Amino acid sequence: MNLKDLYINFMVSKGHKQIPSAPVVPENDPSVLFNTAGMQPLIPYLMGAKHPYGTRLTDYQKCVRTNDLDNIGDTYHHTFFEMLGNWSLGDYFKDEAISWSFEFLTEVLEIPVEKLAVTVFAGTDTIPFDETSYNKWLSLGIPESRIAKTVDDNFWIAGETGPCGPDSEMFYWRSEDPIPEVFDTEDNRWVEIWNDVFMQFEKHADGSITELPAKNVDTGMGVERTTAILEGKMDNYESSIWTPVINLIENISGLSYYGNEKSMRIIADHLRTAVFILADPAGIKPSNTDQGYILRRLIRRAIRHAKNLGIDINSDWEQQIATCLLDMYEVYYAELKTNRQVVLDGLSNEKVKFNRTLEKGLREFEKTTRDGKDIDGETAFHLFDTYGFPLELTVELASEKGLKVDEEGYEVKFREHQEKSRTASQGKFKGGLAGNSEIETKYHTATHLLNAALKVVVGPDVHQKGSNITEERMRFDFSCDHKLSDEEKQQAEALVNQWISEGLDVVVEEMSKEEAISSGAECQFIEKYPDQVTVYTIGNNISKELCGGPHVKNTSELGHFVIKKEEASSAGVRRIKAILEDK
Ligand code: ALA
Repeated sequence: MNLKDLYINFMVSKGHKQIPSAPVVPENDPSVLFNTAGMQPLIPYLMGAKHPYGTRLTDYQKCVRTNDLDNIGDTYHHTFFEMLGNWSLGDYFKDEAISWSFEFLTEVLEIPVEKLAVTVFAGTDTIPFDETSYNKWLSLGIPESRIAKTVDDNFWIAGETGPCGPDSEMFYWRSEDPIPEVFDTEDNRWVEIWNDVFMQFEKHADGSITELPAKNVDTGMGVERTTAILEGKMDNYESSIWTPVINLIENISGLSYYGNEKSMRIIADHLRTAVFILADPAGIKPSNTDQGYILRRLIRRAIRHAKNLGIDINSDWEQQIATCLLDMYEVYYAELKTNRQVVLDGLSNEKVKFNRTLEKGLREFEKTTRDGKDIDGETAFHLFDTYGFPLELTVELASEKGLKVDEEGYEVKFREHQEKSRTASQGKFKGGLAGNSEIETKYHTATHLLNAALKVVVGPDVHQKGSNITEERMRFDFSCDHKLSDEEKQQAEALVNQWISEGLDVVVEEMSKEEAISSGAECQFIEKYPDQVTVYTIGNNISKELCGGPHVKNTSELGHFVIKKEEASSAGVRRIKAILEDK
């Protein structure tokens, strides 16, 4: 029996009702492009609505996560995956959830206890240490040295707001090496296989947290990873889930998987996700917005890697792979049967479209490189803008000819282009801050740093409430229930100056509003923004805000930051006036 069936049978034996997987495109939740976890379609019920199937539910849910597309090609990231879950809606809580997790892992899957380790929530000022879960694991036979207490990784929430709570994660020792006595969460030979979330809170847009009407349990186990573990494979793509597809790609290309892992994994992963998106009742087609744009990029990237493997991309290679995937999954997902032709046609139409620009773009590429000179930024940007060539493709093609691409020059052109479209859209949307002089631009970036610094110094619940910039100073209003102490002011000022002295890059990206929200970008006035938004990120996610700009390119341009005044603005809102001085 496979993992899905074992899991569902076990949970049914514990009084759960099996519910069908929801569509991959959420039906009533515009805050996300795709379901990213098993709990997502259940949010209304986790918040207190009555579920028609009762208070104990279980399922396998189709999930799509496309925030780390660059990771695809390694051994364990997938853009589409299936998540097993069991839920208690105000029914059982930690005791039963943990007992059953342990029983399933050790008795049904027969994982030896010494290969398991767990984490529990360590507690913060406002939410206590999860002693109940800790003691429960101990009583089941997990030794103290294999129970780690953490804060950041043991509080689960799907996005910025919604149902959430402390969780307890289970890890498996996936290595031939001797198992260390003490569980180190940083040691990646321990891989996470299951997560029990004790959902008892709701986080609101203003950052506040309230108790949910009932105490719920939400759990999630990834089918791909756990299957690979049970089959003793270090590479998910070597498990029985992927071998039929990988074998087929080997046959079509005449190449071995070993030595060509990356391209084969990308083709297998991206086409599987494309099959599920195309089959979804939402009727998504490749396009330049939202889900359609993700679908387009996935298909085009798969085509490019097929070309890398020397596959004749005008042949029916993608139809063969999609057919294999449809055959494998249709017993679990009826829409794959109903929409088989829609899937096959959707793939071939997009392939024909991309092959047209691909050929033209390749001709253009040949023309511009005839003189044997390296490729400048403008040409690389032209190939992207007109022929849909991602920079990586141009770089790859160039290197085959022993040529280089001015990647920085490309970035400059790319930003210029974004700046132009941003300025064009600013007529419609001003963002409340848009001034364009050099000093105003600097102040604009300084507000983002101050916002981030206050979140560190005062707490994550600080949010921007308003801002005003002149050539002389910046004013920044933020939610906070107390007058800042001198120490808090000094710390915030010092932190901003530290980030300035670190010379952090300010990176701008365009994305759909939904993508921006799911990437965790800070945004207070969501309804004011158009569907396509710009997100500014400073350094390694020190600050990430949805914003119309403009901003400096690097924080080193800002000078010295000084807080001049901190005062009340209105109830629960404080105001800081600050200036930038020359260094
Ligand atoms: N919703 C939880 C997760 O995705 C179970 O890990």
